[in-house]
Amino acid sequence: MNNPQTWSQRFESALHPAIARFNASIDFDIQLIEYDITGSQAHAQMLAHTKIIAIAEAEQLVTGLEQIRQEYRQGKFNPGIDAEDVHFAVEKRLTEIIGDVGKKLHTARSRNDQVGTDTRLYLRDQIQNIRQQLREFQNVLLDIAQEHVETLIPGYTHLQRAQPLSLAHHLLAYFQMAQRDWERLADVYRRVNISPLGCGALAGTTFPIDRHYTAKLLDFDQVYANSLDGVSDRDFAIEFLGAASLIMVHLSRLAEEIILWSSEEFQFITLKDSCATGSSIMPQKKNPDVPELVRGKTGRVFGHLQALLVVMKGLPLAYNKDLQEDKEAIFDGVNTVKSCLAAMTILLKEGLEFRTQRLAQAVTEDFSNATDVADYLAAKGVPFREAYHLVGKVVRTCMTAGKLLKDLQLEEWQELHPAFSDDIYEAISPRQVVAARNSYGGTGFEQIHHSITTARHQLNS
Ligand code: ARG
Repeated sequence: MNNPQTWSQRFESALHPAIARFNASIDFDIQLIEYDITGSQAHAQMLAHTKIIAIAEAEQLVTGLEQIRQEYRQGKFNPGIDAEDVHFAVEKRLTEIIGDVGKKLHTARSRNDQVGTDTRLYLRDQIQNIRQQLREFQNVLLDIAQEHVETLIPGYTHLQRAQPLSLAHHLLAYFQMAQRDWERLADVYRRVNISPLGCGALAGTTFPIDRHYTAKLLDFDQVYANSLDGVSDRDFAIEFLGAASLIMVHLSRLAEEIILWSSEEFQFITLKDSCATGSSIMPQKKNPDVPELVRGKTGRVFGHLQALLVVMKGLPLAYNKDLQEDKEAIFDGVNTVKSCLAAMTILLKEGLEFRTQRLAQAVTEDFSNATDVADYLAAKGVPFREAYHLVGKVVRTCMTAGKLLKDLQLEEWQELHPAFSDDIYEAISPRQVVAARNSYGGTGFEQIHHSITTARHQLNS
């Protein structure tokens, strides 16, 4: 439609070809086509319902639109740059198929409320897809956690050995993050699911339309109360990208741990061949490309969030073409989150294995049971701070002697403090150190069994 007739008779000459390309969004908004068709079908039905057009006309519109849907699905509808955007492309094709009645479709509507409707319908579906993927991700985390309740892993603060953990506890932390993501998306959905259809270009319309009728047909929960706000609001897209960014934060933290764990330095996991890659020059290498890509792609989603915030900042009411920039941000945000969630789920499910022997050894080779010695004394009445200093001294002595706490003789313990007896060895064994942290939400095995039951319940409800 790169000719004066695209717009009104006001235009005398066609767009400069480079400007037509610059202006067009068809390359990417073609993804909205099925939503555009569904939205237009609802609009046509509403026009008949309110007697703005005849019932027979609406039927022709709906049938013609359905034909375009089929043509698109069969790969037969491929509008070019001259269509400018998906909305023009569909309307033009409709008029080719059903003739002049097609020209009635745009009665009481603008591309401004139309594009807002399409984008919301698209995002609504994608939010549900992503929530479903989050559930699969959580399921895998939970399955692995259940397998590894008794597997111990060093726990870190400042990336220094701190206190040992049940591996299940570590994995369940990610389960909780994903649970918040899942809930957050449900909350975002509530504000995505509001219909702008019928807001017109900016001020509403002179026709006696029924906005609640189209909202109902399209399963929207509400309609925008203010037409200016309806056509120019992109809060819902920003909120989505905010929620998507947090999903990426969580995935990239896990990705980073997997990368560390698979290194020679940690040796906590082995990457299976199905999810690792080789080097073109170093024959010995097996690289964690999957988590690295997830970590790397995180920046794109943050970038889209930032880009859209900047697009919106200072934008005068109501519609401005700047808003066309929302699409690629949303689409790429959606695609990135989906591909990363899918890859991480596969990686966890079948791409890695925890090296349990190495892990069992790792938790015995350090001073991560030092807190438990202090707790031991504190439980016997020694003020905690005093116990803490005393144990600090022991640790230093051990380090100088090249020993661990478990290597001390009972006499040595008793020299330090008469409160020690031979139950100290049990108290500082890694398994007991973990088991003893039975405070609510702690790593104690009892707590973990409780967390797993609750988590299963959450997934099944
Ligand atoms: N392609 C446009 C977009 O994505 C559709 C709306 C155009 N509206 C307008 N007044 N030019 O925003």
